[in-house]
Amino acid sequence: MLIGIDKMNFFTPNTYIDLVKLAEHRGIDPNKFTVGIGQSKMAVPTITQDTVSMGANAALPILDATDLGKIDLIVVGTETGIDESKSSAAFIHQLLNIHPFAKSVEVKQACYGATAGLMMAKDFITTHPGRKALVIASDISRYGLATSGEVTQGAGAVAMLISENPRILELEDVSVSMTESIFDFWRPNYTDTAIVNGKFSNEAYVNFFSTIWEEFSKRTSYSLADFNAFCFHLPYSKMGKKALLPALENESEDVQKRLMSHYDLSTTYTKNIGNIYTGSLYLSLMSLLDSDENSLKSGDLIGFFSYGSGAVGEIFSGRLVEDYDKHLLKEAHQDMLNNRYDLSIEEYETIFTKELPKTDGTHPLSEAKYDKSHFYLSSITDHQRHYNERQ
Ligand code: COA
Repeated sequence: MLIGIDKMNFFTPNTYIDLVKLAEHRGIDPNKFTVGIGQSKMAVPTITQDTVSMGANAALPILDATDLGKIDLIVVGTETGIDESKSSAAFIHQLLNIHPFAKSVEVKQACYGATAGLMMAKDFITTHPGRKALVIASDISRYGLATSGEVTQGAGAVAMLISENPRILELEDVSVSMTESIFDFWRPNYTDTAIVNGKFSNEAYVNFFSTIWEEFSKRTSYSLADFNAFCFHLPYSKMGKKALLPALENESEDVQKRLMSHYDLSTTYTKNIGNIYTGSLYLSLMSLLDSDENSLKSGDLIGFFSYGSGAVGEIFSGRLVEDYDKHLLKEAHQDMLNNRYDLSIEEYETIFTKELPKTDGTHPLSEAKYDKSHFYLSSITDHQRHYNERQ
C-alpha cells in the first residue's frame, strides 16, 4: 500500500522582526545574521498565538468535510506545548470539528516530534486502510532577548494529512533512526526559554547526519546520486549545508549542483520565518516544492533528515507523486508571507516579554492590532484557554 503526504500547509504568525534591524540594534554586523547564519526575518508571535492556535491555523485550509469524517488519529509534535497534561491535539480536534471517534495525542522529542508523528501515522494507515491521520508540528522557538540564539528564534506550524494513495509524496519503507542522550539543547519545565550549547548542537547535528546516512545507505543501497533533493531540519538556513557538504565531497559535479541548488530552494521559508522547531523539516519540503520551477518531477526521490536535540535523528525518503504540484498551496503561502507586519524593535521586545495571566478569574486577551489569524487565543478563564475564530 502506498502511504504518504496527501495534503500539506504551514502557518506563521503575521508579525515579524527584520534581522538587519535587529543586528544593528544589538551592535552586531548584519552580515553575521544574513550571511553567516543565513536568516533574514524572524516570526514573532503575540500572546494570542500559541501551539494550539497555530496548529489549527495550519490545518484548517487543507481539510474538507470528507477529511473531517475520516481522520481517526491526530498527532501534534511539539516541544512548546501549552499544558503538561492535556494535549494540544485535543484542543485542535475541537477547533477543527473532527468527528468524535478519533484519538488525539501530543508527541515530544525536541525538533524530532513531528517525524515520530509522521511515522506513527504511516503505521496507523497501514493497519487502517481508507482512514486518515492528521500530523501537526507546532512550536514557538525562544532563546531570549540578546542571547546568541536570539537570531534563530521563530514561530509556526505545519499540518500534513496522511493517507493511502497520497497526492504529494509517497513515503518509502526503510528509515533509520538514532538516539543518544546528550545536552546540546534542552528546556527544563520551569523556564520558557531554551538552554543551548550552540557549538555542540551544531556538531551533534552533523555527526548524527553522517552516522545515520552511512547506515541508511548500507540498508537501502542508495547513494546521494539517487536523490533529486535532500531536505533538512533547519534551525537556521545554513545548518543543513554543514551536514550535506561533507557528504557530497566524493559525488560528481552534477550531483553536487543538483542537491545544492535544491537545498537553497528548501531554505527560503526558513530564512523568512526562523526556526519553527519540529515543523522545520516539513517547512523546508514546502519551500522546495513551492519554489521549484520544473526541475523536479513525479517519481523523483527526496531524502529527509530529521534531528531533535537531546537527541534523536532519522533519515527517511519519499517519492513525488504524479501531478503533486497541482496540490501545493504556493500562492496562499506567498500571500501569508507578503502580508505580515514589520515590527519595530520596541514592539518586538514588548511582545516578546508579555506574559499570559496566571491567576484565577477571567482574562480577556486582545492583540487585534497585530494578530489577524483565523484562530487565536481569546481569553483565559480559571486557567482554561479559550480560542476564537475570526469571522
Ligand atoms: N559576516 C559574515 N559571517 C559571519 C560574520 C560576519 N560579520 N560574523 C560571523 N559570521 C559567521 C561565522 O563565521 C559563522 O559561520 P560558520 O557557522 O559557517 O562557521 C556564523 O556566522 C555564526 O557565527 P558564530 O560566531 O558561530 O555565532 P554564534 O556563536 O553567535 O552562534 C549559533 C551561532 C547558530 C550556534 C547560535 O545562534 C545558536 O546557538 N543557535 C541555537 C542553536 C541551534 O540552532 N543549533 C543548531 C542544531 S539544532
